[in-house]
Amino acid sequence: MDFTHLQSKIKTIIDSNSFSVNQRLTQICELLQSSINYYDWVGFYFANQKDKTLHLKAFAGEATEHTIIPFGKGICGQVAISDKNFVVEDVCAQDNYIACNFNVKAEIVIPLFKDGKNIGQIDIDSNTPNPFSNKDEKFLEWVNEKAATIL
Ligand code: SME
Repeated sequence: MDFTHLQSKIKTIIDSNSFSVNQRLTQICELLQSSINYYDWVGFYFANQKDKTLHLKAFAGEATEHTIIPFGKGICGQVAISDKNFVVEDVCAQDNYIACNFNVKAEIVIPLFKDGKNIGQIDIDSNTPNPFSNKDEKFLEWVNEKAATIL
């Protein structure tokens, strides 16, 4: 997958001040979900540090009932605590996993840092088994860095 052409489109979305932050985050989700064939669901969750929960703020793909996730629960909840990328080749092999959709085979969650603090994450579900590489991690880290500039 060549991510370079997507980077310029994401920069354009980030710079579109006429749209709200939520609208721009949704546009990023829609761009990624429609451009990369193994990105079937894309969402941004953000942390409520007081309640120790993650809240879904923007997404593209099928609606999920998991709009609030406690820290520590599922792949997303674990990343809220670990501050580390989590690449899941096979979701069926995970004990601490929240199933959103039975077609999902793999997942990648990348923490989003603002001023060095883990404030949220981008979460991608894939219906393709084991599709993610180091390039996806680097690209999604870059997406989160850009998103952090408007948060
Ligand atoms: N599978 C995630 C839950 C969020 S959905 O993928 C949208 C998890 O285990 O945390």
